Amino acid sequence: MKLLIINGPNLNLLGTREPDTYGKESFEDYFSKLQFKFRETELSYYQSNIEGELIDRLQQADKEFDGVILNAAAYTHTSIGIGDAVKAISIPVVEVHISNTFSRESFRHTSYISANAKGIIIGFGLPVYDLAIQSFINK
Ligand code: DQA
Repeated sequence: MKLLIINGPNLNLLGTREPDTYGKESFEDYFSKLQFKFRETELSYYQSNIEGELIDRLQQADKEFDGVILNAAAYTHTSIGIGDAVKAISIPVVEVHISNTFSRESFRHTSYISANAKGIIIGFGLPVYDLAIQSFINK
């Protein structure tokens, strides 16, 4: 199985960004652990701070992967374009958020992605990515 993790804006700063909310581990270090744990699965990772690049990557993924794990970060709450891309592609997309967005500011309670996601995993820290991979493997 081939899965792509897509991370949106500011998630390149994981490890140093608001560690009380997002933890102290960089995504690169965590991703290495995921690759080791799920070595039977072909895992890829893409991060961009640019909305259009995230849309391009979602569109390309349709031909290349069996599924996408998407943390669109702040664009979750603003981007109709990313929401439309999730709807447009035929492979399943699991939406993840590291923090519990519903226990935070009200502007984080809206998602333009959820309605077209296969499922949503929110608030368990970095293990949300692990749980999302398991959701594909155990289906
Ligand atoms: C986030 C939650 C978003 O509200 C925020 O803008 C992020 C990260 C999360 O993973 O908890 O950048 O998607």
